[in-house]
Amino acid sequence: MSILFTPKKIGNVELPNRFVHSATYEGMAKETGEVSNELIKRYERLAKGGVGLIISGYMYVHPTGRAFPHQTGLHSDDMIPGLKKLTDTVHQEGGKITFQLAHAGRQTTKALIGQTPLGPTSRGRDPVNFVRPKEMTENEIMEMIKAFGAATRRAVEAGADGIQIHAAHGYLINEFLSPFFNSRIDTWSGTDTNRFRFLKEIVLETQKTVPEGMPVLVKLSTNDYTPKEGITPGLSVKYAEWLAELRINGLETSCGTAIYSYMNMCRGDVPTAELVKSLSWWEKPIGRRMIGKLEGKYDLEEGYNLKAAKMIKPVLGDTPLFLVGGIRAVAYMKEVLENNYADFISMSRPFIREPFLVNKIKEGKMEKVSCVSCNRCLAAVVNDIPIYCYNKGFPK
Ligand SMILES: Cc1cc2nc3c(=O)[nH]c(=O)nc-3n(C[C@H](O)[C@H](O)[C@H](O)COP(=O)(O)O)c2cc1C
Ligand code: SF4
Repeated sequence: MSILFTPKKIGNVELPNRFVHSATYEGMAKETGEVSNELIKRYERLAKGGVGLIISGYMYVHPTGRAFPHQTGLHSDDMIPGLKKLTDTVHQEGGKITFQLAHAGRQTTKALIGQTPLGPTSRGRDPVNFVRPKEMTENEIMEMIKAFGAATRRAVEAGADGIQIHAAHGYLINEFLSPFFNSRIDTWSGTDTNRFRFLKEIVLETQKTVPEGMPVLVKLSTNDYTPKEGITPGLSVKYAEWLAELRINGLETSCGTAIYSYMNMCRGDVPTAELVKSLSWWEKPIGRRMIGKLEGKYDLEEGYNLKAAKMIKPVLGDTPLFLVGGIRAVAYMKEVLENNYADFISMSRPFIREPFLVNKIKEGKMEKVSCVSCNRCLAAVVNDIPIYCYNKGFPK
Protein backbone atom coordinates (compact mmCIF):
# COMPACT_ATOMS: atom_id res chain seq x y z
CA MET A 1 0.00 0.00 0.00
CA SER A 2 1.21 3.52 -0.77
CA ILE A 3 2.57 5.39 2.22
CA LEU A 4 -0.04 8.07 1.43
CA PHE A 5 -2.76 5.69 2.58
CA THR A 6 -1.21 4.44 5.81
CA PRO A 7 -3.22 5.50 8.88
CA LYS A 8 -1.73 7.74 11.55
CA LYS A 9 -2.99 9.14 14.82
CA ILE A 10 -3.13 12.75 15.96
CA GLY A 11 -4.01 12.78 19.64
CA ASN A 12 -6.61 10.05 20.06
CA VAL A 13 -7.96 10.45 16.55
CA GLU A 14 -6.89 7.93 13.96
CA LEU A 15 -6.76 9.32 10.42
CA PRO A 16 -7.13 6.79 7.59
CA ASN A 17 -4.60 8.47 5.30
CA ARG A 18 -2.01 11.26 5.19
CA PHE A 19 -4.09 13.86 3.35
CA VAL A 20 -5.23 17.03 5.09
CA HIS A 21 -7.50 19.75 3.74
CA SER A 22 -5.67 22.88 4.87
CA ALA A 23 -7.85 25.64 6.30
CA THR A 24 -9.53 27.55 3.48
CA TYR A 25 -11.84 30.52 4.07
CA GLU A 26 -15.06 29.74 2.21
CA GLY A 27 -16.99 33.05 2.03
CA MET A 28 -20.18 31.05 2.53
CA ALA A 29 -21.38 31.78 6.08
CA LYS A 30 -24.41 34.00 6.74
CA GLU A 31 -23.68 37.60 7.71
CA THR A 32 -24.45 36.61 11.31
CA GLY A 33 -21.50 34.18 11.13
CA GLU A 34 -23.85 31.18 11.15
CA VAL A 35 -23.41 28.16 8.94
CA SER A 36 -25.34 28.14 5.61
CA ASN A 37 -26.51 25.20 3.49
CA GLU A 38 -23.89 26.12 0.87
CA LEU A 39 -21.18 25.75 3.51
CA ILE A 40 -22.49 22.36 4.65
CA LYS A 41 -22.53 21.14 1.03
CA ARG A 42 -18.89 22.20 0.61
CA TYR A 43 -17.83 20.08 3.57
CA GLU A 44 -20.07 17.18 2.56
CA ARG A 45 -18.26 17.03 -0.81
CA LEU A 46 -14.87 17.16 0.91
CA ALA A 47 -15.75 14.36 3.33
CA LYS A 48 -17.07 12.23 0.43
CA GLY A 49 -13.80 12.84 -1.38
CA GLY A 50 -11.82 10.77 1.11
CA VAL A 51 -9.47 13.32 2.69
CA GLY A 52 -8.17 12.06 6.05
CA LEU A 53 -8.66 15.30 7.96
CA ILE A 54 -10.54 18.46 7.06
CA ILE A 55 -9.41 21.68 8.70
CA SER A 56 -12.20 24.26 8.34
CA GLY A 57 -11.74 27.80 7.07
CA TYR A 58 -10.74 30.18 9.85
CA MET A 59 -13.50 30.98 12.31
CA TYR A 60 -13.43 34.15 14.41
CA VAL A 61 -13.36 33.63 18.17
CA HIS A 62 -14.36 37.18 19.11
CA PRO A 63 -16.37 39.89 17.31
CA THR A 64 -13.23 42.07 17.04
CA GLY A 65 -11.43 39.20 15.32
CA ARG A 66 -13.64 38.92 12.26
CA ALA A 67 -11.82 39.29 8.94
CA PHE A 68 -14.62 39.06 6.34
CA PRO A 69 -18.43 39.47 6.24
CA HIS A 70 -19.09 35.87 5.20
CA GLN A 71 -16.67 34.25 7.63
CA THR A 72 -17.95 31.55 9.98
CA GLY A 73 -18.24 32.61 13.63
CA LEU A 74 -17.26 30.68 16.73
CA HIS A 75 -17.67 33.73 18.97
CA SER A 76 -21.11 32.96 20.37
CA ASP A 77 -23.17 29.96 21.50
CA ASP A 78 -25.72 30.90 18.80
CA MET A 79 -23.29 29.43 16.26
CA ILE A 80 -23.34 25.94 17.79
CA PRO A 81 -26.54 24.45 16.22
CA GLY A 82 -25.40 25.26 12.65
CA LEU A 83 -21.90 23.99 13.33
CA LYS A 84 -23.34 20.78 14.78
CA LYS A 85 -25.21 20.18 11.51
CA LEU A 86 -21.94 20.68 9.67
CA THR A 87 -19.95 18.19 11.78
CA ASP A 88 -22.84 15.68 11.65
CA THR A 89 -22.78 15.85 7.85
CA VAL A 90 -19.02 15.30 7.73
CA HIS A 91 -19.25 12.38 10.17
CA GLN A 92 -22.10 10.76 8.21
CA GLU A 93 -19.73 10.68 5.22
CA GLY A 94 -17.00 9.10 7.35
CA GLY A 95 -14.89 12.26 7.56
CA LYS A 96 -13.14 14.06 10.41
CA ILE A 97 -13.18 17.82 10.91
CA THR A 98 -11.08 20.20 12.97
CA PHE A 99 -12.13 23.84 13.35
CA GLN A 100 -9.54 26.54 12.76
CA LEU A 101 -9.74 29.23 15.47
CA ALA A 102 -8.54 32.72 14.63
CA HIS A 103 -8.50 36.37 15.56
CA ALA A 104 -7.82 38.73 12.65
CA GLY A 105 -5.85 41.24 14.73
CA ARG A 106 -5.03 44.28 12.61
CA GLN A 107 -5.89 42.50 9.34
CA THR A 108 -9.51 43.67 9.26
CA THR A 109 -11.42 46.94 8.98
CA LYS A 110 -13.25 49.30 11.31
CA ALA A 111 -16.23 49.09 8.94
CA LEU A 112 -16.55 45.36 9.58
CA ILE A 113 -15.91 45.14 13.34
CA GLY A 114 -17.22 48.55 14.41
CA GLN A 115 -14.01 49.67 16.12
CA THR A 116 -10.35 50.22 15.39
CA PRO A 117 -8.72 46.81 14.74
CA LEU A 118 -6.58 45.46 17.55
CA GLY A 119 -2.89 44.61 17.52
CA PRO A 120 -0.04 44.12 19.96
CA THR A 121 1.29 47.56 18.99
CA SER A 122 -0.24 50.54 17.22
CA ARG A 123 2.85 51.28 15.17
CA GLY A 124 2.60 51.76 11.38
CA ARG A 125 -0.21 51.88 8.86
CA ASP A 126 -0.42 48.83 6.62
CA PRO A 127 -0.27 49.26 2.84
CA VAL A 128 -3.68 47.72 2.07
CA ASN A 129 -6.23 48.87 4.65
CA PHE A 130 -4.09 51.80 5.85
CA VAL A 131 -4.99 50.69 9.38
CA ARG A 132 -3.06 51.87 12.41
CA PRO A 133 -4.28 49.35 15.00
CA LYS A 134 -5.15 50.03 18.61
CA GLU A 135 -2.55 48.67 21.01
CA MET A 136 -4.23 46.05 23.17
CA THR A 137 -4.45 46.59 26.90
CA GLU A 138 -3.54 43.85 29.37
CA ASN A 139 -7.28 43.26 29.93
CA GLU A 140 -7.92 42.92 26.21
CA ILE A 141 -5.07 40.41 25.90
CA MET A 142 -6.55 38.29 28.71
CA GLU A 143 -10.03 38.61 27.12
CA MET A 144 -8.73 37.25 23.79
CA ILE A 145 -6.98 34.30 25.46
CA LYS A 146 -10.27 33.46 27.19
CA ALA A 147 -12.10 33.91 23.85
CA PHE A 148 -9.95 31.14 22.32
CA GLY A 149 -10.89 28.93 25.30
CA ALA A 150 -14.61 29.70 24.93
CA ALA A 151 -14.45 29.06 21.17
CA THR A 152 -12.78 25.70 21.87
CA ARG A 153 -15.62 24.78 24.23
CA ARG A 154 -18.10 25.63 21.44
CA ALA A 155 -16.12 23.55 18.94
CA VAL A 156 -16.31 20.58 21.32
CA GLU A 157 -20.07 21.08 21.85
CA ALA A 158 -20.57 21.33 18.10
CA GLY A 159 -18.89 17.94 17.60
CA ALA A 160 -15.57 18.97 16.05
CA ASP A 161 -12.85 16.29 16.14
CA GLY A 162 -10.18 18.81 17.11
CA ILE A 163 -9.09 22.41 16.81
CA GLN A 164 -6.31 24.22 15.04
CA ILE A 165 -5.01 27.53 16.41
CA HIS A 166 -4.26 29.92 13.54
CA ALA A 167 -0.92 31.47 14.49
CA ALA A 168 0.13 32.22 10.90
CA HIS A 169 -0.49 34.67 8.02
CA GLY A 170 -0.18 37.92 9.95
CA TYR A 171 -3.29 37.52 12.11
CA LEU A 172 -3.33 38.42 15.81
CA ILE A 173 -1.28 35.53 17.21
CA ASN A 174 1.28 35.88 14.38
CA GLU A 175 1.44 39.61 15.22
CA PHE A 176 2.38 38.81 18.83
CA LEU A 177 5.01 36.30 17.64
CA SER A 178 6.62 38.69 15.18
CA PRO A 179 9.28 41.27 16.08
CA PHE A 180 8.02 43.32 13.09
CA PHE A 181 4.46 43.67 14.43
CA ASN A 182 5.15 43.42 18.17
CA SER A 183 7.31 46.10 19.74
CA ARG A 184 5.49 46.38 23.07
CA ILE A 185 7.56 47.24 26.08
CA ASP A 186 6.06 44.83 28.59
CA THR A 187 6.05 41.09 29.30
CA TRP A 188 4.38 40.34 25.94
CA SER A 189 7.43 41.46 23.95
CA GLY A 190 11.11 42.37 24.19
CA THR A 191 12.33 38.76 24.01
CA ASP A 192 11.35 35.72 21.92
CA THR A 193 10.01 34.05 25.08
CA ASN A 194 7.77 37.05 25.77
CA ARG A 195 6.54 37.25 22.17
CA PHE A 196 5.70 33.52 22.36
CA ARG A 197 3.69 34.04 25.57
CA PHE A 198 0.35 34.95 23.92
CA LEU A 199 0.37 31.76 21.82
CA LYS A 200 1.53 29.72 24.80
CA GLU A 201 -1.34 30.99 26.97
CA ILE A 202 -3.81 30.22 24.18
CA VAL A 203 -2.47 26.69 23.75
CA LEU A 204 -2.74 26.08 27.52
CA GLU A 205 -6.27 27.54 27.60
CA THR A 206 -7.45 25.31 24.76
CA GLN A 207 -5.72 22.20 26.16
CA LYS A 208 -7.54 22.82 29.43
CA THR A 209 -10.85 22.89 27.57
CA VAL A 210 -10.68 19.91 25.19
CA PRO A 211 -11.52 16.38 26.33
CA GLU A 212 -8.47 14.13 26.91
CA GLY A 213 -6.86 13.14 23.62
CA MET A 214 -8.73 15.59 21.40
CA PRO A 215 -6.16 17.14 19.07
CA VAL A 216 -4.99 20.72 19.49
CA LEU A 217 -3.04 21.72 16.37
CA VAL A 218 -1.19 24.92 15.48
CA LYS A 219 -0.53 26.60 12.12
CA LEU A 220 2.67 28.63 12.27
CA SER A 221 4.40 30.91 9.77
CA THR A 222 8.04 30.12 9.15
CA ASN A 223 8.68 33.43 7.39
CA ASP A 224 6.61 36.62 7.55
CA TYR A 225 8.22 38.28 4.51
CA THR A 226 7.50 41.68 6.07
CA PRO A 227 9.44 44.86 5.07
CA LYS A 228 11.52 44.53 8.26
CA GLU A 229 12.43 41.29 10.00
CA GLY A 230 9.48 39.41 11.47
CA ILE A 231 9.36 35.66 11.95
CA THR A 232 12.31 34.09 10.15
CA PRO A 233 12.88 30.35 9.57
CA GLY A 234 15.40 30.39 12.46
CA LEU A 235 12.91 31.96 14.88
CA SER A 236 10.16 29.59 13.76
CA VAL A 237 12.37 26.61 14.73
CA LYS A 238 12.54 28.00 18.27
CA TYR A 239 8.76 28.47 18.39
CA ALA A 240 8.20 24.97 16.97
CA GLU A 241 10.39 23.46 19.68
CA TRP A 242 8.43 25.28 22.39
CA LEU A 243 5.14 24.14 20.87
CA ALA A 244 6.36 20.53 20.88
CA GLU A 245 7.27 20.94 24.56
CA LEU A 246 3.68 22.06 25.17
CA ARG A 247 2.62 18.69 23.68
CA ILE A 248 0.47 20.04 20.87
CA ASN A 249 -0.78 17.27 18.56
CA GLY A 250 0.43 18.60 15.23
CA LEU A 251 2.15 21.57 13.62
CA GLU A 252 1.38 22.91 10.15
CA THR A 253 4.04 25.17 8.65
CA SER A 254 3.15 27.98 6.27
CA CYS A 255 4.43 31.49 5.50
CA GLY A 256 3.44 35.01 4.49
CA THR A 257 1.00 37.56 5.86
CA ALA A 258 -2.39 38.45 4.33
CA ILE A 259 -1.55 42.14 4.01
CA TYR A 260 2.20 42.41 3.40
CA SER A 261 3.00 39.17 1.62
CA TYR A 262 -0.08 37.23 0.50
CA MET A 263 1.67 36.06 -2.65
CA ASN A 264 4.29 34.26 -0.57
CA MET A 265 1.48 32.43 1.22
CA CYS A 266 -0.23 31.39 -2.04
CA ARG A 267 2.49 31.18 -4.67
CA GLY A 268 1.51 31.09 -8.33
CA ASP A 269 0.02 33.62 -10.76
CA VAL A 270 -0.90 37.13 -9.67
CA PRO A 271 -4.52 37.67 -10.79
CA THR A 272 -4.28 41.46 -11.09
CA ALA A 273 -7.59 42.03 -12.91
CA GLU A 274 -9.56 40.05 -10.31
CA LEU A 275 -7.69 41.53 -7.35
CA VAL A 276 -8.48 45.11 -8.36
CA LYS A 277 -12.09 44.36 -9.30
CA SER A 278 -13.47 45.30 -5.88
CA LEU A 279 -11.61 48.64 -5.76
CA SER A 280 -13.32 51.96 -6.46
CA TRP A 281 -12.76 53.61 -9.90
CA TRP A 282 -10.07 55.93 -8.54
CA GLU A 283 -8.22 53.16 -6.66
CA LYS A 284 -8.16 50.79 -9.66
CA PRO A 285 -5.27 52.38 -11.62
CA ILE A 286 -3.10 52.59 -8.46
CA GLY A 287 -4.02 49.00 -7.55
CA ARG A 288 -3.24 47.78 -11.07
CA ARG A 289 0.18 49.47 -10.97
CA MET A 290 1.06 48.14 -7.51
CA ILE A 291 -0.22 44.60 -7.97
CA GLY A 292 0.96 44.41 -11.59
CA LYS A 293 4.55 44.83 -10.33
CA LEU A 294 4.22 41.48 -8.52
CA GLU A 295 3.37 39.52 -11.69
CA GLY A 296 5.87 36.78 -12.57
CA LYS A 297 7.67 37.00 -9.22
CA TYR A 298 5.88 34.24 -7.32
CA ASP A 299 5.90 31.26 -9.67
CA LEU A 300 4.81 28.12 -7.91
CA GLU A 301 7.64 25.89 -6.84
CA GLU A 302 6.52 22.40 -5.77
CA GLY A 303 6.43 22.26 -1.95
CA TYR A 304 7.68 25.79 -1.44
CA ASN A 305 7.61 25.52 2.38
CA LEU A 306 9.71 22.33 2.49
CA LYS A 307 13.04 24.06 3.15
CA ALA A 308 11.75 25.62 6.39
CA ALA A 309 9.90 22.42 7.34
CA LYS A 310 13.16 20.45 7.08
CA MET A 311 14.68 22.81 9.66
CA ILE A 312 11.71 22.32 11.98
CA LYS A 313 11.18 18.56 11.75
CA PRO A 314 14.17 17.56 13.96
CA VAL A 315 12.99 19.67 16.93
CA LEU A 316 9.45 18.31 16.84
CA GLY A 317 10.20 14.83 18.24
CA ASP A 318 7.01 12.80 17.84
CA THR A 319 4.77 15.83 17.15
CA PRO A 320 3.42 15.32 13.61
CA LEU A 321 4.34 17.89 10.96
CA PHE A 322 1.83 18.95 8.29
CA LEU A 323 3.47 20.38 5.17
CA VAL A 324 1.42 22.84 3.12
CA GLY A 325 2.19 25.04 0.13
CA GLY A 326 2.28 24.16 -3.55
CA ILE A 327 2.15 20.38 -3.24
CA ARG A 328 0.77 19.14 -6.55
CA ALA A 329 2.45 15.93 -7.80
CA VAL A 330 1.63 12.53 -6.28
CA ALA A 331 5.25 11.33 -6.63
CA TYR A 332 6.39 14.39 -4.67
CA MET A 333 3.83 13.71 -1.91
CA LYS A 334 5.23 10.19 -1.53
CA GLU A 335 8.80 11.49 -1.50
CA VAL A 336 7.98 13.91 1.35
CA LEU A 337 6.55 11.13 3.49
CA GLU A 338 9.08 8.44 2.56
CA ASN A 339 11.96 10.75 3.52
CA ASN A 340 10.18 11.68 6.75
CA TYR A 341 10.27 15.37 5.87
CA ALA A 342 6.66 15.58 7.09
CA ASP A 343 3.89 13.29 8.38
CA PHE A 344 0.92 14.74 6.51
CA ILE A 345 0.36 16.33 3.10
CA SER A 346 -1.77 19.42 3.46
CA MET A 347 -3.40 21.20 0.52
CA SER A 348 -5.83 24.06 0.04
CA ARG A 349 -6.32 25.22 -3.58
CA PRO A 350 -6.27 21.70 -5.08
CA PHE A 351 -9.33 20.82 -2.95
CA ILE A 352 -11.21 23.93 -4.12
CA ARG A 353 -10.91 22.62 -7.65
CA GLU A 354 -11.18 18.90 -6.94
CA PRO A 355 -12.83 17.96 -3.63
CA PHE A 356 -12.60 14.29 -4.66
CA LEU A 357 -8.89 14.23 -5.38
CA VAL A 358 -7.92 11.82 -2.59
CA ASN A 359 -10.27 9.13 -3.89
CA LYS A 360 -8.88 9.66 -7.39
CA ILE A 361 -5.30 9.24 -6.14
CA LYS A 362 -6.33 6.11 -4.25
CA GLU A 363 -7.82 4.64 -7.41
CA GLY A 364 -4.58 5.42 -9.26
CA LYS A 365 -6.36 7.89 -11.56
CA MET A 366 -4.28 10.97 -10.76
CA GLU A 367 -0.57 11.75 -10.96
CA LYS A 368 -0.87 15.48 -10.43
CA VAL A 369 -3.71 17.65 -9.19
CA SER A 370 -5.22 19.89 -11.84
CA CYS A 371 -5.15 23.19 -9.92
CA VAL A 372 -2.89 25.52 -11.93
CA SER A 373 -2.40 28.04 -9.08
CA CYS A 374 -3.95 30.91 -11.06
CA ASN A 375 -5.10 32.32 -7.69
CA ARG A 376 -8.49 33.51 -8.90
CA CYS A 377 -10.01 31.72 -5.90
CA LEU A 378 -7.76 33.83 -3.67
CA ALA A 379 -8.95 36.98 -5.43
CA ALA A 380 -12.54 35.88 -4.75
CA VAL A 381 -11.86 36.45 -1.04
CA VAL A 382 -11.36 40.20 -1.46
CA ASN A 383 -14.32 40.38 -3.84
CA ASP A 384 -16.56 38.87 -1.14
CA ILE A 385 -17.91 36.06 -3.31
CA PRO A 386 -18.04 32.38 -2.29
CA ILE A 387 -14.83 30.47 -2.89
CA TYR A 388 -14.92 28.15 -5.90
CA CYS A 389 -12.46 27.41 -8.67
CA TYR A 390 -12.69 30.50 -10.93
CA ASN A 391 -9.92 29.41 -13.28
CA LYS A 392 -12.17 30.26 -16.24
CA GLY A 393 -12.99 33.69 -14.76
CA PHE A 394 -15.41 35.20 -12.26
CA PRO A 395 -19.16 34.81 -12.79
CA LYS A 396 -20.66 37.69 -14.82
C1 LIG B 1 -9.10 31.02 -0.99
C2 LIG B 1 -8.12 30.74 0.11
C3 LIG B 1 -8.51 30.84 1.43
C4 LIG B 1 -7.62 30.54 2.47
N1 LIG B 1 -8.06 30.58 3.77
C5 LIG B 1 -7.22 30.22 4.76
C6 LIG B 1 -7.70 30.12 6.11
O1 LIG B 1 -8.88 30.33 6.40
N2 LIG B 1 -6.79 29.77 7.07
C7 LIG B 1 -5.49 29.46 6.77
O2 LIG B 1 -4.71 29.13 7.68
N3 LIG B 1 -5.03 29.50 5.51
C8 LIG B 1 -5.87 29.85 4.50
N4 LIG B 1 -5.41 29.83 3.20
C9 LIG B 1 -4.03 29.35 2.94
C10 LIG B 1 -4.02 27.84 2.67
O3 LIG B 1 -4.44 27.10 3.79
C11 LIG B 1 -2.62 27.34 2.27
O4 LIG B 1 -1.75 27.57 3.38
C12 LIG B 1 -2.06 28.01 1.01
O5 LIG B 1 -3.10 28.19 0.06
C13 LIG B 1 -0.96 27.20 0.36
O6 LIG B 1 -1.40 25.87 0.09
P1 LIG B 1 -1.85 25.35 -1.38
O7 LIG B 1 -0.69 25.60 -2.32
O8 LIG B 1 -2.14 23.90 -1.20
O9 LIG B 1 -3.04 26.16 -1.79
C14 LIG B 1 -6.29 30.13 2.17
C15 LIG B 1 -5.91 30.03 0.81
C16 LIG B 1 -6.79 30.31 -0.20
C17 LIG B 1 -6.37 30.15 -1.62
S1 SF4 C 1 -9.06 29.26 -9.19
FE1 SF4 C 1 -8.98 27.04 -9.45
S2 SF4 C 1 -7.12 26.60 -10.67
FE2 SF4 C 1 -6.99 28.72 -9.90
S3 SF4 C 1 -5.81 28.52 -8.00
FE3 SF4 C 1 -7.96 28.45 -7.41
S4 SF4 C 1 -8.49 26.27 -7.42
FE4 SF4 C 1 -6.55 26.46 -8.52
